[in-house]
Amino acid sequence: MRDDDLQRDLAVAGSSLERVERTRHADVGAHDPTATPYAVLEDLFGGLDLGAGSHLLDVGCGAGRVLAYFVGAALPGRVTGVELDPALAAQAAAWSARYPNVRVVEGSVLDLPLAGYTHVYLFNPFDTPVLTAFLDKLECEAVGPVTLVHMSDNGEWPAYVGRARWATLREGTFELPGEEGDCPQHFTIRRLDIT
Ligand SMILES: C[S@@+](CC[C@H](N)C(=O)[O-])C[C@H]1O[C@@H](n2cnc3c(N)ncnc32)[C@H](O)[C@@H]1O
Repeated sequence: MRDDDLQRDLAVAGSSLERVERTRHADVGAHDPTATPYAVLEDLFGGLDLGAGSHLLDVGCGAGRVLAYFVGAALPGRVTGVELDPALAAQAAAWSARYPNVRVVEGSVLDLPLAGYTHVYLFNPFDTPVLTAFLDKLECEAVGPVTLVHMSDNGEWPAYVGRARWATLREGTFELPGEEGDCPQHFTIRRLDIT
């Protein structure tokens, strides 16, 4: 873990938010709770149209790195993290309780009402069947345009094929620290149109 990332975790959360462990929920398609590096979050979120009325959903928040980035960067609006793993959700909820613009929900995103979120972030949270179910649910429940940032090293794009209401705004790749030589992380920023 980069020392800079640790310092930023400590400043907002009081402890490291990196988790080098295997998921306990692979049976339902969940992936490991790897945290997004801050430099990557700055690149992905830097150009987004967040405002006072925005509500960001971090799908699979782990111990809460994205929530800490949101607080530390003083991004406008609110952020909710939903996390399937009860222990991780409890950790994220514990440190973030002092921040009124942060909320943590324990459970599957497939059971979370999705109306009202303006922005959604996914860092490789789950297998394609769960992703497909999530996108179906979001398309049904969105009440306004949604900007969705998706980063993955396992080919997330087929789940979007044939979905006519999504426009691609930006895409690219990152090679994450410690993953040099592995498949790069590909990201796409898409916009869901509700008309
Ligand atoms: C790669 S981690 C991302 C952590 C964090 N979003 C970040 O970027 O730093 C993916 C997380 O998604 C969680 N997850 C997997 N399936 C889920 C589901 N159906 N609902 C909510 N969270 C889920 C996993 O437990 C894991 O903690």
